[in-house]
Amino acid sequence: MSLKSIDPTQTLAWKKLQAHFESIKDVHMSSLFSKNFKRASEMSLEWNDFFLDYSKNRITAETISLLKGLAEEIQLSDAISKYFDGEKINKTEGRAVLHTALRAPKESEVFFEGTNVIPEIYEVKNKIQQFSEAVISGQRKGFTNKAFTDVVNIGIGGSDLGPAMVVDALCYYGNHLKVHFVSNVDGDHVNEVLKELDPETTLFVIVSKTFTTQETLSNATTIKQWFLQKAAQADIAKQFVAVSTNIEKVESFGISPQNIFPIWDWVGGRFSLWSAAGLSISLAVGFDHYDDMLKGAHKMDVHFKEALFEQNIPTLLAMISIWYNNFFKAESEAIIPYTQYLNQFATYLQQAIMESNGKSVDRNGEKVKYQTGNLIWGEPGTNSQHAFFQLIHQGTKLIPADFIGFSKSLHGNQDHQDKLMSNFFAQTEALLAGKNDAVVAEEGTASEIFPYKIFEGNRPTNTLFIEQLTPESLGKLIAMYEHKIFVQGIVWNIFSYDQFGVELGKQLAGKILKEFSKQSPEVHDASTANLIARYKNIR
Ligand code: F6P
Repeated sequence: MSLKSIDPTQTLAWKKLQAHFESIKDVHMSSLFSKNFKRASEMSLEWNDFFLDYSKNRITAETISLLKGLAEEIQLSDAISKYFDGEKINKTEGRAVLHTALRAPKESEVFFEGTNVIPEIYEVKNKIQQFSEAVISGQRKGFTNKAFTDVVNIGIGGSDLGPAMVVDALCYYGNHLKVHFVSNVDGDHVNEVLKELDPETTLFVIVSKTFTTQETLSNATTIKQWFLQKAAQADIAKQFVAVSTNIEKVESFGISPQNIFPIWDWVGGRFSLWSAAGLSISLAVGFDHYDDMLKGAHKMDVHFKEALFEQNIPTLLAMISIWYNNFFKAESEAIIPYTQYLNQFATYLQQAIMESNGKSVDRNGEKVKYQTGNLIWGEPGTNSQHAFFQLIHQGTKLIPADFIGFSKSLHGNQDHQDKLMSNFFAQTEALLAGKNDAVVAEEGTASEIFPYKIFEGNRPTNTLFIEQLTPESLGKLIAMYEHKIFVQGIVWNIFSYDQFGVELGKQLAGKILKEFSKQSPEVHDASTANLIARYKNIR
């Protein structure tokens, strides 16, 4: 059974939210705090090693109750069951969306088209474990019998961003293997990576769900040619492995069948780091850490499936985000982790969120008449404070932000950690309270610059406060955003799991590429025709 199609704007809850918005839109959060001393505790919740404080939002208890009403009217719980139960909720591609099964315990059962998928998932997990352990221990060697020192992950989009983000995030837990990522079809990218590498001690992991992606196949071919300058064709089996659903194409690339790690159609590319697409993670940090990440994600899955609306972290975050997107008309959301380890987190979330919910046709095939997917951006604090925070504090745009912090650092430098966390708390405090005329006057500010010193405040933030960055807590965090994406797609009545929007550009690039070696140009708009002609003249 497919997902129901309910226009959220036609629900009673939406109409009530609209009326409620009119009454609350100019209310300053500071006044909500002074009216209710219990606000911080009422609007925060603790789950496992996570503490979520969502009190610094432009909401009241009534907002939450109306958002809950909206979730009920659009039948969110029915959709959640279909998501976890392997229904083909990716209707436009005729697929289920079962990345949650990849992190389910061995004894669980998840059925897809009548077959329990857990045994085959664990078969591949065993293969990942054995392979990673053999490479890390040095038991598996390269073509000149040397142990591996480097790994190159060749993939793009979901076959790159998730593994790259996690390998970076968990580098504290890493071993001696240096993991590199080659994604861009820009030849300078692959050449920059290769220049550091020794073909005798480098393992290549080609990750492509379809094994048809131009960037990945071009990079893999270039790397194979580079490798074959030193090695023989038969050595490819020792140093190239692939992760794909397209076994035939992988084999015709020259990779031996025992070096193929399968994935399934029901794993979306941008949710595939839990599958063999995460092989580089297991190589970088060892299988046990990789598995801990999966266990963390599973805990979040159970929480999402079972927790009541008021206690449900992904659901609350999703609905609060809809409140800003659809009622306050906020266009973007910032993700600010206070750890350098999550340097690539916002980039990773850009694909997960924007490729999923950047849609404008509803589940009935009609053009939507309301806003859907948010623009996602961000950088770690404190660096971001010295970059774009000016605009968040004093600009004209409303930018709700998620602040993600960890109580304990990994290297244990308390002096730095205290400074980091003081900034973490200070920023959300400043965004909430601002600085009014009275305070600016007290500071003895000269009249010419008086207005520039005022901070309106009332800028919303969520604070997600986690004990420590571990493989398990990272797994929970990623899964939290995955479920937020799901909830928002359900409310917006769109299909979150296809990505037809990336195809047109790919098709046109294919045509233009052929044109470079042809005399007669194809028909283009005048601007594109000029640009192509110019390139052909000087390339
Ligand atoms: O950008 C489109 C896309 O299909 C992504 O969804 C996917 O993650 C990426 O390309 C890579 O695809 P593949 O793993 O098939 O090479």
